[in-house]
Amino acid sequence: MDQKHENTHTPRVFSGIQPTGNLTLGNYLGAVKRFVEMQNSGIETIYCMVDLHAITVWQEPQSLKAATRELAAGFIASGLDPKKSILFNQSQVPAHAELGWIFNCVTRMGWLNRMTQFKDKAGKNRENASVGLFAYPTLMAADILIYHATHVPVGEDQKQHLELTRDIATKFNNDFKTNFFPITEPVIEGVATRVMSLRDGNKKMSKSDASDMSRINLTDSADLIAKKIKKAKTDADPLPSSLEGLENRPEAKNLINIFAGLAGISSEKVLEENAGKEFSKFKPILAELAVSKLMPISKEMAHLMKDTVYIDQVLGNGANKAAQIANPILEKTYDIMGLIRST
Ligand code: AMP
Ligand code: TRP
Repeated sequence: MDQKHENTHTPRVFSGIQPTGNLTLGNYLGAVKRFVEMQNSGIETIYCMVDLHAITVWQEPQSLKAATRELAAGFIASGLDPKKSILFNQSQVPAHAELGWIFNCVTRMGWLNRMTQFKDKAGKNRENASVGLFAYPTLMAADILIYHATHVPVGEDQKQHLELTRDIATKFNNDFKTNFFPITEPVIEGVATRVMSLRDGNKKMSKSDASDMSRINLTDSADLIAKKIKKAKTDADPLPSSLEGLENRPEAKNLINIFAGLAGISSEKVLEENAGKEFSKFKPILAELAVSKLMPISKEMAHLMKDTVYIDQVLGNGANKAAQIANPILEKTYDIMGLIRST
């Protein structure tokens, strides 16, 4: 982990995922698997189901509830342990929204206007996007900074939001002549920081893609996983022996990276072991690997989903622990800004 942050805050990891639809293989390799590694490295870890971010676009209430519990089940089934990590849903800790408001007053319109995720999500109809969708990155900065988190593991697509988080912390610190907020380090590492669609190697694998064949969901059956890999788009050439041979072959590169991410080895090593193979030979090996890694997770998720009382308890306990860290930081923020707190 990169330790070059310009501050003396103790290491603390925070990350979040939106409870919108299924967890994909992209979320798993780009985020959750790495959340587990950081948890097991012994560093303090806080992982959040960001339901307040989810509602920046319309969510059907019953689906939101189910998706939040399913995400919690996915976290636990993937190896996050409520005894080792703080796991909770964002809306149960009001300090996120409160610091989010303060950051709305620190952040400049021009900064938010540059955010590519807003442009992508709002599409052509910007006038009809919610104000929340526009302010999404300020709430994300609040999620991180309300814990004075120093490291944030995410996929490549979140890089710009994390740069903004650093800008917000820096402006607050400068405005109030303090070094209260840490300058957070993004942790975008590994072979699978950008898992691509199985239908188009130039597009990110996404929960919201219209085609379910474009992604592998953690809840997919073994047969469906195998079918999606078999049907994945590829070119006609056999696998090369080195990384240079994957240039301009986005689909081939994606399948190699997925294999490497699942197996926990480098892409070079995957190529060494499979050089010269046709996709008709490679795909069944990849499918077998994917099934062997993902089925235990999906079975455990299904098992956990039967006990929503337990899941809600985990989220409630996590929220209490999170609030104990967040509330004093919020109080201090108000104090720095001159907002009166009578006790
Ligand atoms: P989201 O589902 O948008 O809330 O994303 C949750 C986390 O998964 C973030 O850290 C994303 O960067 C990461 N992520 C989402 N899609 C992918 C992908 N296709 N490849 C790698 N990481 C991803
Ligand atoms: N914006 C992130 C995504 O869409 C989710 C998120 C919200 C997040 N708050 C965060 C990620 C704080 C890391 C840290 O993937």
